[in-house]
Amino acid sequence: MIKGLIKKNRSIRRFKKGVRITKKTLIELVELARLSASAANLQPLKYLLSYDSEKNNKIFPHTKWAGYLSDWDGPLMSERPSAYILILGDTTITKSFGCDHGIAAQNILLGAVEKGLGGCILGALNRKGLHDSLNIPSRYEILLAVALGKPDEKVIIETACDDNIKYWRDEKDVLHVPKRPLEELILEL
Ligand SMILES: Cc1cc2nc3c(=O)[nH]c(=O)nc-3n(C[C@H](O)[C@H](O)[C@H](O)COP(=O)(O)O)c2cc1C
Repeated sequence: MIKGLIKKNRSIRRFKKGVRITKKTLIELVELARLSASAANLQPLKYLLSYDSEKNNKIFPHTKWAGYLSDWDGPLMSERPSAYILILGDTTITKSFGCDHGIAAQNILLGAVEKGLGGCILGALNRKGLHDSLNIPSRYEILLAVALGKPDEKVIIETACDDNIKYWRDEKDVLHVPKRPLEELILEL
């Protein structure tokens, strides 16, 4: 059921150690992005795959994790993602990528969850650092990264109240993610 998959697809920031994600698996996930909606069907997105520790180590230092968890410095070495898919915008096709990359990222993550994996969309990136460290040509704009791995963290969705939307971790290290209630979202104008 799509709702089950969407509920299971929580942002995961800690991953099981020693789990390899193959290039083939990442290609299967990019296939889901390839089939996504695209404004004017321009399909300006390109994907950079990272599935070995050498490339992963070039990416991680340029990522930022869980801004609301001020007492947490991000995943430990042993908890880091097994793979990444960087979503790039090809500026020779268009300079404006709309929300194509968000849709692509979500489809990648839903596919990952279906495969028993999990991940997190990363938009807070040191883009200059990534360009340099991966030698990404300047024609590609770095839009998002999707970090992937085998989840090693428990996440609970709860209903947000009093506008409090900050996620938090409890004493058992469970992440609580408040979602605004439906009646707040649907406008009766
Ligand atoms: C466009 C976008 C950018 C995001 N960037 C980051 C990021 O840089 N670092 C991070 O830890 N989480 C990032 N997230 C994950 C959000 O924090 C997460 O979606 C939110 O806390 C709700 O949790 P949920 O995905 O489990 O519903 C991003 C999510 C989106 C949609």
